[in-house]
Amino acid sequence: MRRDTLHLKAPGNWINDPNGFIYYKGKYHLFYQHFPYAPVWGTMHWGHAVSEDLVNWEHLGIALFPTRYEDQNGCFSGSAIEHEGRMYLYYTGVHYMQADPNNIHLSPGDAYESAQLMMTSEDGMHFDNFHKKTVIVPPMDDSRIGDRTHTRDPKVWRGRDAWYMVLGTMTAKRKGALLFYRSENLNDWSYVNTVSANEELGWMWECPDCFEVAGKTVLIVSPMGLQKQAPLEENHTVCMQVTFEEETCVMQLPDHYQYLDYGLDLYAPQSTLDEEGRRVLVAWLRMPEPVEGEWIGMYCMPRVVEMEGGHICFRVHPYAESMFTRKITHPKQADGAAYRVRFVLREGEGISIGGYRIWREENRICTDRSAVFPRNEKFSLRASTPEVEGKCELDVYVDAHMIEIFVNRGRYVLSHAVYGLTDEIQSDSVEQWEIAALK
Ligand code: FRU
Repeated sequence: MRRDTLHLKAPGNWINDPNGFIYYKGKYHLFYQHFPYAPVWGTMHWGHAVSEDLVNWEHLGIALFPTRYEDQNGCFSGSAIEHEGRMYLYYTGVHYMQADPNNIHLSPGDAYESAQLMMTSEDGMHFDNFHKKTVIVPPMDDSRIGDRTHTRDPKVWRGRDAWYMVLGTMTAKRKGALLFYRSENLNDWSYVNTVSANEELGWMWECPDCFEVAGKTVLIVSPMGLQKQAPLEENHTVCMQVTFEEETCVMQLPDHYQYLDYGLDLYAPQSTLDEEGRRVLVAWLRMPEPVEGEWIGMYCMPRVVEMEGGHICFRVHPYAESMFTRKITHPKQADGAAYRVRFVLREGEGISIGGYRIWREENRICTDRSAVFPRNEKFSLRASTPEVEGKCELDVYVDAHMIEIFVNRGRYVLSHAVYGLTDEIQSDSVEQWEIAALK
């Protein structure tokens, strides 16, 4: 039996976005959107896990849960920072004006309002939900600035002279936008600027994240309603190099964007700095159905964001990469643990890994998961990267329910949820491949 050994998932039931990702007092803390009662989305809590190596996680239970009027119906996504030894969590609280009488975890027609809250913790281990929450941005009352319902997911960072916060929102014309705030003291926040796309890029922007990599500013955002091919895949995460002026929070967006991942399932990433200053991110893998009726949703491997000639790359974090040291010749020898298959793929060649097909056609890396995915017309089965230049080296990481393909060390990445992989690798064109198992 294959086990999921490489990826974080909730101890049970539902997980979606990563939240509050931070290296704090010698450990990585990762919080997560969590519904603890059933494997479906519902009233959001923040689950909490810690790790020393970004691969092996220890679950510490629930950190944030609804206690106030403003977060009565959920503690939505947000981020963490450290200041003077304390951990500060920023998140969106939602209050339903009307709940579904048959399922109080939902609000039909989005009849809810959103506020931005802060919670502090002395040690990142204890969270006083009854006394340590404060509202820092009340629900929007001016639709020229942001939407009362759809404004959320605070990401906070230290700038040169102050603290900054970006929120995702929707304009009055139903376009995605960002709201920027500034604070001197982490408690009092003032609105600075709104930034929206020149062109159509979905109707609302979730989970914004912006940071510097090698002197360039990168924006990552998750627009809703970006694609139309399959109902549960309309939301996709994009990234782009932008220019950003801190004092005015003026951001210029380019016309061109990349996808975070060229598969169909990754969404709502969050980044932080690792202990050596690398920009590392994780993201939620949407899954079509629970595994053995018990849990649904996972996180991708930690990925390092790097720039390569104006292109944003997502490489396997060295901690994860260095764990694949056990050379094997057949997936069965991995004893059910994750393994990596490494090979060069030439034009016209293809391979099947456990029933998941990968081939190169017109210089694109194409995949088909039909044989390892439940029948469900709400999801699509095939995906591909843009054209790859030159040689094409693939690192395919295989876990029981997730496949991640790194093309040319993360120039493009393509990740998918999979079910029922076999232990066979087959190809009549690729001549050789190397397999290494997770130690
Ligand atoms: C993205 C998202 C966020 C929100 C959270 C709620 O997947 O919709 O915008 O905060 O999930 O669970």
